[in-house]
Amino acid sequence: MSRVNKIKGFFDLFPPESTSYTFMEDKAREIFARYAYQELRTPILEQTELFARSIGQDTDVVQKEMYIFPDRRGRSLTMRPEATAGVIRAYIDSPAASSGNVSRFFTLGPMFRYERPQKGRTRQFHQVNAEMLGEDSPYADAEILSMLWGYLQSLGLKELVLEINSLGCPACRPGFDAKLKSFLEGINRDVFCEDCQRRAGSNPLRVLDCKAAGCREVASEAPRIVDNLCPECKEHFDRVLGILKSFDIYYELNPFLVRGLDYYQRTTFEVISNDIGSQSAVAGGGRYDGLVKVLGGPEVPGIGFACGMERLALLLQGIQERPMDFYMAVLHEDALDKAMLMVRRLRSKGYRGEMSFQVRSVKSHLRQANKKNVKTCLLLGLDEMHKNQVQVKDMSTGVQRAVSQDDAEQALGLVFQPR
Ligand code: HAM
Repeated sequence: MSRVNKIKGFFDLFPPESTSYTFMEDKAREIFARYAYQELRTPILEQTELFARSIGQDTDVVQKEMYIFPDRRGRSLTMRPEATAGVIRAYIDSPAASSGNVSRFFTLGPMFRYERPQKGRTRQFHQVNAEMLGEDSPYADAEILSMLWGYLQSLGLKELVLEINSLGCPACRPGFDAKLKSFLEGINRDVFCEDCQRRAGSNPLRVLDCKAAGCREVASEAPRIVDNLCPECKEHFDRVLGILKSFDIYYELNPFLVRGLDYYQRTTFEVISNDIGSQSAVAGGGRYDGLVKVLGGPEVPGIGFACGMERLALLLQGIQERPMDFYMAVLHEDALDKAMLMVRRLRSKGYRGEMSFQVRSVKSHLRQANKKNVKTCLLLGLDEMHKNQVQVKDMSTGVQRAVSQDDAEQALGLVFQPR
C-alpha cells in the first residue's frame, strides 16, 4: 500500500525536539504565573470574519495566508493564523469584558499560515501568546515587555535584540497616514511591488513593512511615525522607554517597525535573533487599544505579544530531557512478575523509568540502558530472585551492587534524588 504523506509545511515533533516545546511551555506557565496571567484556550477554528476584521483586509495574512474553507453548511471558517483575535472574541463573550477589571491571559498552541516554508517558517507553527486587557498605562506596556524579556531569559536565550516603536493613535495616525500617502504618491509607482502599488493608496503603513527591495528603499526615506506622534502618544512612549531603562532592559528604536497586522496602536515591538537566518523575529507584539471595540466589545485597551516556538526551538537546540531514573532489566522468565511489581512500586514513589518485557542477556540489556541514557539499571535474574535481591548499577560510575529487593527504592535514592 502507498503511504499517506504529511502536508507540506506541517511537521511531526518527535523527541528530542518535542522536549524543547515542553520546556518552552513549562517555562511560560512558570514565568507568566508570576505576573498573574492565567491560561485561556480558544478554538482553532473561528469565523473568517473575525480575522478579516481584526488583522485587516490589506494584510498579507488575510490576503494570502489564511487556511479558509466552508463548513458543511457553507459558512466560511478559518484556522487561526494567530491567537489575539480569538482571545478578544472570547473575552468579549465573557463577563470579564464588562467587569472593569484588568484581565491577563496566556494562550499556547498551533497557528496556521499558508506561507512559503523555509527555515523558521512553517505552515503550522506554535505560539506562546500573552494578552493584557483593560489597562492603557505605560506601566502595562513595560510590564508585558518585562514579562516577555524574563521569559526569554528563563529559556537561557541571551543574544536577542528588542526593537521598539510607537504607531500613534486615532488622534495622530490619520495625519501621519496622509503625510505618508502624499510622500508615496511622489514616488514612481514602478518602484513598488505589485501589492504596494495598491497599498500605497489604501493602507500606506503596509508599504513600510514590505520586504520587497524597492519598497524597502522607499521606506528608508519615508517620514517616520515617531516624529509625528501627538503629545499624549509621545509622552506614553517616552514613559514606556523610561521604565524599560529603569528595568535595565536594553532596546533599539526602530522607526520602521510597523508589524504585519493592522490592529496595532502606540507601542509595538519585536524581538530579533541574528542566529536563525532570515526569519529572525522570535517574538512580536504591541498595543491594540481599538481592537475590542472593532470586534463589537466595549472600549477596552489591550496589549500583548506572541513568541514563535519554532524559531525559539532553533535557538534551544541542545536542551536535553532529564534522564530516566531506572531501566528494569529481566534476565529470566520467572523474574518478570516480580520485576513488574517492583517497577510499579518505584513509579508510585515518583521514580521515572521503563521495564523491558523481553528476557535478554545482561550485556544486551546494558546496551539498551546505555542508549536510553538512564541513571540506573536494575537487573533481576534467577540468582537475585532466590536471594530476594536486585542488582543496582549506577550507569554513570559503572558501580554495581546487590541490594535486598525491599531496599531497592532506598538504593535508588542513594544513587539519585527523585523529584
Ligand atoms: P506575529 O508577528 O504575526 O504576531 O507573530 C508572532 C511570532 O510568531 C513571530 O515573531 C514569529 O516568531 C512567529 N511566526 C509567525 N508566523 C510564523 C510562521 N509561519 N512560522 C513560524 N513562526 C511564525 C502575532 O501573531 C500577534 N498576534 C502577536 C500579538 C499578541 N500581538 C498582540 N498580542
